[in-house]
Amino acid sequence: MTPVALITGASAGIGAELARVFARNGHELVLVARRKDRLNALADEIAAGGPRPAVLAVDLGQRDAVARIAAELASRGLEPAFVVNNAGFGLAGAAAGLSHAEELGMIDLNIRALTELSLNFVDSLARHRGGILNVASVAAFLPGPGMAVYYASKAYVLSFSEALHRELKPRGIRVTALCPGPVPTEFQARSGLRADRSQQILTLPADRVAQIGYDGLMRGKRVVVAGLANKLAVALLRLTPHALVLPMIERHMRDPRS
Ligand SMILES: NC(=O)c1ccc[n+]([C@@H]2O[C@H](COP(=O)([O-])OP(=O)(O)OC[C@H]3O[C@@H](n4cnc5c(N)ncnc54)[C@H](OP(=O)(O)O)[C@@H]3O)[C@@H](O)[C@H]2O)c1
Repeated sequence: MTPVALITGASAGIGAELARVFARNGHELVLVARRKDRLNALADEIAAGGPRPAVLAVDLGQRDAVARIAAELASRGLEPAFVVNNAGFGLAGAAAGLSHAEELGMIDLNIRALTELSLNFVDSLARHRGGILNVASVAAFLPGPGMAVYYASKAYVLSFSEALHRELKPRGIRVTALCPGPVPTEFQARSGLRADRSQQILTLPADRVAQIGYDGLMRGKRVVVAGLANKLAVALLRLTPHALVLPMIERHMRDPRS
């Protein structure tokens, strides 16, 4: 079986950049997302410098998605040495007022699919002494009134990945939670977030975040917060009582200039 890096959400943003970083470092790839045309365009680009990635157009919100991916990999003689759980989205607005179906769909993608993909290939990850890179967020470190389900989903990703880091270490499997701050991608439009210049100091481009994530995973880091400004923000958040932070987040979500 050929070892591959399986990367979800590779059709855009951070995931596409993660695919480029893994390819540059000599990994064969499997690219997963719903938009097949985008995945094929990226696969063509990567094929100019090495083996062409396999492309799987899969909606990870579907209950049978991971079983389908596993069957497809097996039929092509591929097995994951690395799993990168990057696909995810957010929704801005008060939780009770948003579409509950969409919020539950977010949980299916950000939590359910990520969990199943993290657990499904452990034997092959161990065989190849590979790892799991789970994309969380700086949002994982605090509750987010105005984006409650998204923040909670990322808190899950961080908690789960940190615990898995310990559990899988004896088997030689690295597990890293990557926590980016703001990254200009399709994420903001998909989430319904308004343009926000106040966070410029925390903002990093997707290619930089991908490189930081890759380096952190290869070094066996448990948690990687992307960028110095975000590291400082997280350190400060950890020292500040939620009673003080939550109203600030709430105000900021209502008016990003505040
Ligand atoms: N951008 C930020 O500011 C930021 C900050 C912190 C953390 N993050 C996290 O970083 C990760 C990547 O986000 P991004 O900023 O790169 O967002 P993005 O540009 O919107 O990309 C999201 C990716 O997820 C895929 N995806 C969405 N729903 C899917 C589904 N049901 N099945 C399969 N794939 C699906 C999308 O592909 P298709 O639409 O083709 O399916 C796309 O490739 C997310 O987990 C996000 O929460 C982002």
